[in-house]
Amino acid sequence: MCGIVGYIGKQKASPILINGLMRLEYRGYDSAGISTIEPEGLVVMKDKGRVKNLYDLDGINDLKGTIGIAHTRWATHGKPSKENAHPHQDNSKLFSVVHNGIIENYNELRKFLTDKGYKFYSDTDTEVVPNLIHYYFSKDDEKDIKMRLLKAIKATCADLKGSFALEIICKDLPDNMIVVRKDSPLVIGKGDGENYISSDIPAILSFTRNFYLLNDLEYVFLSRDSAEFYDKDLNKIDKQIQSIEWDASSSEKNGYEDFMLKEIYEQPTAIRETIGAKFNENSKCEFDELNFSKEYLSSVNKIYIVACGTAMHAGLAGKNVFEKLCRIPTEVDVASEFRYRDPLIDDKTLCIFVSQSGETADTIAALKLSKERGAKTISISNVIGSSITREADYSMYTHAGPEIAVASTKAHTSQIVLLIMIAIYFAEVLGKDSKELLELKKELLELPKQIEQCLTLADTVKEFAHKIYQEKDVFFIGRGVDEVVAKEASLKLKEISYIHSESYPAGELKHGAIALIEKGITVVGIMTDPTLVEKTVSNLQEVITRGAKTLIVTNQKIDKSMFDVVVEVPETNPFLSPVLSVIPLQLLAYYISKEKGLDVDKPRNLAKSVTVE
Ligand code: M6R
Repeated sequence: MCGIVGYIGKQKASPILINGLMRLEYRGYDSAGISTIEPEGLVVMKDKGRVKNLYDLDGINDLKGTIGIAHTRWATHGKPSKENAHPHQDNSKLFSVVHNGIIENYNELRKFLTDKGYKFYSDTDTEVVPNLIHYYFSKDDEKDIKMRLLKAIKATCADLKGSFALEIICKDLPDNMIVVRKDSPLVIGKGDGENYISSDIPAILSFTRNFYLLNDLEYVFLSRDSAEFYDKDLNKIDKQIQSIEWDASSSEKNGYEDFMLKEIYEQPTAIRETIGAKFNENSKCEFDELNFSKEYLSSVNKIYIVACGTAMHAGLAGKNVFEKLCRIPTEVDVASEFRYRDPLIDDKTLCIFVSQSGETADTIAALKLSKERGAKTISISNVIGSSITREADYSMYTHAGPEIAVASTKAHTSQIVLLIMIAIYFAEVLGKDSKELLELKKELLELPKQIEQCLTLADTVKEFAHKIYQEKDVFFIGRGVDEVVAKEASLKLKEISYIHSESYPAGELKHGAIALIEKGITVVGIMTDPTLVEKTVSNLQEVITRGAKTLIVTNQKIDKSMFDVVVEVPETNPFLSPVLSVIPLQLLAYYISKEKGLDVDKPRNLAKSVTVE
């Protein structure tokens, strides 16, 4: 999705802006552009295609301005083209604007402005913004130009329906920039005599680790060495700086070929950090963020875990644990369905929202709906200050470090671990069997080491990837919690290798999909539940008889001779096995994508955070 960078300081802005945009490339985009304040006025340079193309634009090296805004666009309204790329300007070129999000009523606003004589040069929803600002700015007789601009931007925001993060520069205020957001991320990084702005923290981590986090409809008037904050009615407000623990190198590849591979290998650390000091094997699980009483938890009639994609799969792995340890009915929902299906929610419902980025539009909307209906809400996110963390009653963090590759790996396993820890905390508050909980905690603490063991399977997996990378279809099957891993492995494979894949509960295959199994088709079987392993072996027998090639991921003693390749992961508590058995399958997707020569970190059509519905 679109990315935003901004700079206001003493250095030449353009290289900083382009460097920042490059760090946002992982989000997915189709065009890029910058606008700086030059002595002769505002200059806009933009083009279709890669950020690096900006370096080829005539005059880009002559830009001297020390204030500028920049954008990578992921087309929603209007095709990818130079005209539709941001920044956009008003007709008199007084303002340059970049925008993330969607203006839902742009047609109506465009008509309003066209009737007033404004002309439009792009197909975007964004172009109404600079023109509306111009409209309000030019009809106000306020003498103080700063207040006049703030008022014009406020009036513009009041007209906009939808989501937006905006950076605005004005020719008449050559030492300032104004930013505002609503339902779309934007942070301000504080430097020494300079301020950095971005939609994503990693883009500016190499410049600062001190950030101001903005709430919806807070306006920021930036100078080189100050940031003034205003609330939605333009009253001045104070804002605290927050330090982010991520360091700049955590968003570099550090010698790995791709971010995805690096992030797969970072999983032992991500899990260690997520467990942190929240418990040891003899102590109860404690969260500073949660203070639930036995009385409250006993009154909860249902838990919903709501998320999208891979985060939703983490929810599926967590569902079992809440039901079995806490005996609370738990449902997992895809956020885009949940919000429209009139879910049964009341003040005895507890809703948990899982999102790596914390910015997924559907997940945020589902959270808002749950709150409106009286539920208590918990968010699980990997990004400090992200939107869901600010909406939820309780916000919890995975400590996976920045995840840059579009395909989620370390965030996923960290989410499973955090969900399990929350379930343990609930069970302890509810006074459930402490022996079982103690055992589980002991095994949780073993996970980082066991993940390291799983990573040693890379060569075997790579060899198998080499054998099957040209295939058209792959099936993943498993039972119980292994089916959750099958779902996640299938998503990972299709998302980065473009191979069609499906996942099935192993016993369900013969109710239809087995018709697709023929000689040479690959079936991946996951078998870690000792009570179900024999059943899955029988289902695999059925596909082998029909000519399928098989890859097995297991921690059970099985007769290996009937399968093509068997990778063994360490044995653990069945609640935890999805964290281990998914690792070789993340590697499988990775190596297949590499064999096909694809861009692993930036798969086609996908974006890292899906900030539109
Ligand atoms: O940032 P989120 O966790 O809310 O993102 C949700 C999904 O878009 C995300 O998990 C997606 O499915 C991944 N690209 C899968 O690898």
